[in-house]
Amino acid sequence: MPDAQAIAAQAARFGVADAVHPEDHIWNFVLGHPGFGSRAAAIEYYFADGAHSARHFLELIGPGGRGAVLEFAAGYGCVTRHLALARGFDLTACDIHDEAVGFLRRQLGVRAIASHTCPELFAATGCYGAVLALSFFSHMPLATWARWLVRLTLPLAVGGRLVFTTHGRHSRSHFADPDLPESGFWFQPTSEQSDLPVTEYGQTITTPEFVRAVLLTLPWVELEAWHEADWWAHQDTWVVRKRSHAPVRAVPPPRLGKAPRLWPRRMRP
Ligand SMILES: C[S@@+](CC[C@H](N)C(=O)[O-])C[C@H]1O[C@@H](n2cnc3c(N)ncnc32)[C@H](O)[C@@H]1O
Repeated sequence: MPDAQAIAAQAARFGVADAVHPEDHIWNFVLGHPGFGSRAAAIEYYFADGAHSARHFLELIGPGGRGAVLEFAAGYGCVTRHLALARGFDLTACDIHDEAVGFLRRQLGVRAIASHTCPELFAATGCYGAVLALSFFSHMPLATWARWLVRLTLPLAVGGRLVFTTHGRHSRSHFADPDLPESGFWFQPTSEQSDLPVTEYGQTITTPEFVRAVLLTLPWVELEAWHEADWWAHQDTWVVRKRSHAPVRAVPPPRLGKAPRLWPRRMRP
């Protein structure tokens, strides 16, 4: 069956947009995977898996978690097209790739905003009932890992939830079973996304102890659930709930323009 026919059939089956971007890395990963017997089977998986992820997210946040929802690191909308159907959702998608942001807006018809490589310069200001970061922390280096966790909890409403996934202990087999360092943080500077520097986007495995320790430094959130090897049978799922407003100084403001004077003038050299 030609791709276009299989795509149309699967999109109709789920009632979602049938546009697929040629640079969609999830699409390219699935279509290039040797485990599918045919392209039609891979196309079916792409749509069914996106639907499954959207459904699972809805289950995790429950009926109370509707309203404004941010899908962070949405890529080219494998999951977004299904989330866009959810009742009571005011969905905003987001990605680092401008091309993806344009595609999400124009082809999938959702609100989409650009991200930033620097967590503190990501400009989301909404008051979200839920944020999803699927397969994002599984790629961040140590330099930004915890900062992204801070950044993605800040635009949550009190009572709102951040759902994110990590490569955990069960993901090791996907990376030739590396020994994890005592810190609980393992990073390999390789990736399928050749346009992103591998120092900013690679392969990351975190132990549950590491994630819990970082969460303890964010007193404005509480861990509600951890499901080991839950997503795709290997990524761990984390659900954190915002219990209070974060202190205003949690994220230092970007230093734009003239730097503040820290010393009385007479003390300066
Ligand atoms: C493994 S893909 C996951 C895509 C999507 N969440 C899914 O599961 O189908 C990781 C995504 O993170 C995005 N990404 C990488 N760095 C980012 C950043 N700083 N801000 C937002 N998105 C980023 C990539 O462009 C890519 O779409």
